[in-house]
Amino acid sequence: MKAVTYDRYGSFEELKISTIEKPIPKDDEVLISIKANSINKANLLLLQGKPAMIRLFYGLKGPKNKTPIGDFSGVIESVGKTVTSFKPGDEVFAESSSSGVFCEYAVLKAKKVVLKPKTLSHEASAAIPLAGQTALQALRDAGKLKSGQSILIYGASGGVGTYTIQIAKAMGAHVTAVCSQRSHNQAYQSKADVILDYNKKDDLDRLGQYDLILGINGYHPLRFYQKHLNRGGIYVCIGGDGRQIAQAMLQGPIRGLFTGLTFKSLVAKNNPQDTEILANMADQGQLHPIIDSVFPLEHVQKAYQHYASGKALGKVIISNTP
Ligand SMILES: NC(=O)c1ccc[n+]([C@@H]2O[C@H](COP(=O)([O-])OP(=O)(O)OC[C@H]3O[C@@H](n4cnc5c(N)ncnc54)[C@H](OP(=O)(O)O)[C@@H]3O)[C@@H](O)[C@H]2O)c1
Repeated sequence: MKAVTYDRYGSFEELKISTIEKPIPKDDEVLISIKANSINKANLLLLQGKPAMIRLFYGLKGPKNKTPIGDFSGVIESVGKTVTSFKPGDEVFAESSSSGVFCEYAVLKAKKVVLKPKTLSHEASAAIPLAGQTALQALRDAGKLKSGQSILIYGASGGVGTYTIQIAKAMGAHVTAVCSQRSHNQAYQSKADVILDYNKKDDLDRLGQYDLILGINGYHPLRFYQKHLNRGGIYVCIGGDGRQIAQAMLQGPIRGLFTGLTFKSLVAKNNPQDTEILANMADQGQLHPIIDSVFPLEHVQKAYQHYASGKALGKVIISNTP
């Protein structure tokens, strides 16, 4: 079968299309014909082997997984002897944390996959798992968001950002989204109540006070977010510049002690139950993936390059459908 592979950590040139053995499912696994994948920042970091610490888990000398792991949507081709939850023909999606899925066929444990949203294509379904789970866990678990609360989403235009706006709206929050002018349409489509441009001083002067702030992209010191939190408010750092992540982890707990506020960092967990919640939200019209472009599997290098350029206005998808 056809698969994307890379033997060394490095740049896009390392990605190639190879012919490898079609996998055979074990008793508790399912064999999936992969129809689409989406690219996340994690794919880029795993290709580059950066930060170096991740090599402890993903291969010291080179990638343990020669085929990229991550988001996919596909159709069950066959099931292992003990699998009763799925049958051939079922359409499923998930984030794979261990098996390579940027390929024609993949095997995963049956308990790690869920039925894909009925109302979405494979391309749109593949755009959801990692970014959607991150958004859901940031709002529900780390942010403890309640209906009627106000939330500021800083860096609201990417995959995580747009799902965060949509899920926060579904949870009944008043949402202020900060992103660049060129990305306003994504925040608008996601139904943010207020949209501000981080490049305009006038816009940043309009920032108010919020019950919850999510730092997803960009960089601001913790004191900037502290200034905009209501009494008892919570700041959750999800991503962005390395300084933003480091400050939240190292200074956040101490700053919390002196201010009565909470400063946290999120490490999203791959949880099929959450993927199922996201599928239901999509089928209820509460979650709409925003797709920038679809590349065929053979053009995987171009797809990664386009994602890495930062020019994409929505998710970058790889399609395996002829
Ligand atoms: N904690 C976790 O478990 C976890 C999980 C998933 C992802 N992440 C992290 O979350 C971040 C976002 O991931 P993603 O998948 O949403 O990425 P993405 O889809 O690639 O989003 C990138 C967006 O960031 C915006 N951006 C760039 N510079 C910015 C700035 N200075 N200020 C504000 N926004 C800026 C850009 O839009 P504009 O046009 O608006 O600039 C761009 O569209 C990444 O750092 C990723 O590593 C963390």
